[in-house]
Amino acid sequence: AGDAQISTGARGQWSSRWVFFLAATGSAVGLGNIWKFPYITGENGGGAFVMVYLACILVIGIPLLMLEVMIGRRGRANPEGAIGVVAAQAGASRHWRALGTMAVLTGFLILSFYTLIAGWAVAYVPDALLGRFAGLTGESSSALFGALLADPLKLIAYGTLVLLATLLIVAFGVHKGLERSLRFLMPGLFILLLVLVGYAATTGHFAAAVHFLFDVDFSKLTGQSVLVALGHSFFTLSLASGAMMVYGSYLPAGTSIAKTSIMVAVADTAVALLAGLAIFPLVFANGLEPGSGPGLIFVTLPIAFGQMPLGALVGALFFVMLAIAALTSAISLSEPTIAWLTERFGLSRLKAVLLSGVALWILGLGSVFSFNHWAEFTVFGKNFFDALDYLTANLMMPIGGLLTVLFCGWSLRQATVREGLGVGSTGLFRLWWLIVRFATPLGIAIVFLRSLELL
Ligand code: PHE
Ligand code: NA
Repeated sequence: AGDAQISTGARGQWSSRWVFFLAATGSAVGLGNIWKFPYITGENGGGAFVMVYLACILVIGIPLLMLEVMIGRRGRANPEGAIGVVAAQAGASRHWRALGTMAVLTGFLILSFYTLIAGWAVAYVPDALLGRFAGLTGESSSALFGALLADPLKLIAYGTLVLLATLLIVAFGVHKGLERSLRFLMPGLFILLLVLVGYAATTGHFAAAVHFLFDVDFSKLTGQSVLVALGHSFFTLSLASGAMMVYGSYLPAGTSIAKTSIMVAVADTAVALLAGLAIFPLVFANGLEPGSGPGLIFVTLPIAFGQMPLGALVGALFFVMLAIAALTSAISLSEPTIAWLTERFGLSRLKAVLLSGVALWILGLGSVFSFNHWAEFTVFGKNFFDALDYLTANLMMPIGGLLTVLFCGWSLRQATVREGLGVGSTGLFRLWWLIVRFATPLGIAIVFLRSLELL
């Protein structure tokens, strides 16, 4: 069993705890950290939002990450099947399986736009190499990005490229390739981010950025912002989407789920904070708006690359790495659907990949046109892309997470969960169990009530 086969449809295992850590970190670290975290932090006023996000990671995200991996490992199946197995073993209702189905759907919907955003990063690689970042100002950089969004064919071409790469990897499987690329990618991305933070420190606006990110003023925080912070803590840790459950289902017995989960969460949070420290000094130095939305990194970073020595190369390298980080997340977003289609409906792995590929491509068109032709077509003030993002991150993920902690905390026995995690009945475990039963569900419920202005 030396070969992990997330690729062949046969249920295999990761070859070691280290490989699982790499795969889970590869899933967690992605566009959520470098693209989404900075722009939603900008839109939601900074410090207080960051505080709530960090609290959500700690009280809700980490416990849930452990539970999802545990369910996957105990159930050894796709999310729906795994929850079914665990529920049956515990004598709980089989209907909990629907939670797994919802997770699969959530991951699928996210993937439909995730590959498109990754396509933006790929599109910026030739721009960087051709020297188009040289001498960019806030205004001309905004114009460059605006031109990309206004070009649906280009968006479709690059998005399709990323989708094809994802499905190719998932279809033919390169556990070894995944492992090898992650081994240089993660440190490489980290180092490049440090370089960017170093550069950002020379803009003279570093202090303003630190104040923006870490000065906490709760009076600025709306109920909606709190919901966005909660939703992002799920999104960034790849929760409630089947990804971590399905990766857990390939985890060998005997690996410490608790330790690995905490390591994944720390790595993920570190990358997000570094991205914030790299981007906001540039925002302030170039007179840009922190709340300018999804284009934030695509407008700010090219300005920096255009000014630094070897910027064309560093810029190209950065966007290549961002695309690969996104690719490893996209792989984990598609695996739940593929495992579900093969195990639940008996499709071959290839058929499952083709079927979901076509569906994802068509669904993706809705997001493509949200940035140009259909930009004015909105429901509740949201275009198709915004609506999909809101539905998945702010509704489906928190609801799925809430139901998962309720399932584990109230429908499974303490001993079952403890065995599943493979830990002793220590004081630490009992504290954690109290958090899972009370603090986590209450935390999610409070955020929902706040967002509905009921609290
Ligand atoms: N965690 C990934 C990111 O931050 C996105 C993701 C969500 C991946 C859900 C898998 C499942 O970019
Ligand atoms: Na993340």
